Amino acid sequence: MKNTNKENEPLKSLEEWEDDVVRRYPEKAHKNKEEYRNYDAPARDTVKEFYRINHSNQTYDFVLDKEKDFLRFNRKEMTLWDAVEFLNTLVDDSDPDIDLDQTQHLLQTSEAIRADGHPDWFVLTGFLHDLGKVLCLFGEPQWAVVGDTFPVGCKHSDKIVYPEFFAKNPDVYDERYNTKYGVYEPNCGLDNVHMSWGHDEYLYHIMKDYLPEPALYMIRYHSFYAQHREKAYDHLMNDHDREMFKWVDKFNPYDLYSKAPVPPDVKKLRPYYEDLAAKFLPDTLRF
Ligand SMILES: [Fe+2]
Ligand SMILES: [Fe+2]
Repeated sequence: MKNTNKENEPLKSLEEWEDDVVRRYPEKAHKNKEEYRNYDAPARDTVKEFYRINHSNQTYDFVLDKEKDFLRFNRKEMTLWDAVEFLNTLVDDSDPDIDLDQTQHLLQTSEAIRADGHPDWFVLTGFLHDLGKVLCLFGEPQWAVVGDTFPVGCKHSDKIVYPEFFAKNPDVYDERYNTKYGVYEPNCGLDNVHMSWGHDEYLYHIMKDYLPEPALYMIRYHSFYAQHREKAYDHLMNDHDREMFKWVDKFNPYDLYSKAPVPPDVKKLRPYYEDLAAKFLPDTLRF
């Protein structure tokens, strides 16, 4: 079921959020800057409105409720390729001038990783890293699917994009959640920290038994820009997190800057990715 509450869904497509991330973190010395879309003021306004809703509503209790609901995985069972095709149906109601569908974003990410000679689990991770966005197709609003993620249950860093919008988040006025550590202990490790709810955390739980740990960190924290770009939450991380975030850092440029001028040949690439899936994943995945 599709959420059609326009007031609650400011983005014309989920891509608007990602395009805005590229605008915030432009690639250093990128050769083909013109390839990336221009960020006109109206697009920035929708992204701003998106963050206003996201930051107001992603509370500690909201996250715990979503975890309880979605981590039962009782909605759909699909092969990896079925999930990719299912995710692609998202493009139907979005911005008509969008140039890449979801499958192409996944393939461009993974093919860029493959071209650089990285191990096959890394390639597969690139291919599936955004599958959690199927949350949108289960009726979840944009602000509970995409956007930069951040820890809940403790003070919001002012390094998070649009920090002023947290003024409308009730957790800010709750002394259990508004201190530096909140419900957590110093350097307790991110596995003990609840992140704002979205496609990253959801897919991590779907994949956690099947992929190597660096892959799981890439999936789980790829939208945690306040840490992997801004280093705002070192006080919650342990040494193991820091080691693993080297992989998150390695992954991020492929996610943001792998848009190639020629779209990938989906039909030709499919057998390779089905073989990769067979190597690491069960026949079907539960969503
Ligand atoms: Fe993502
Ligand atoms: Fe992505």
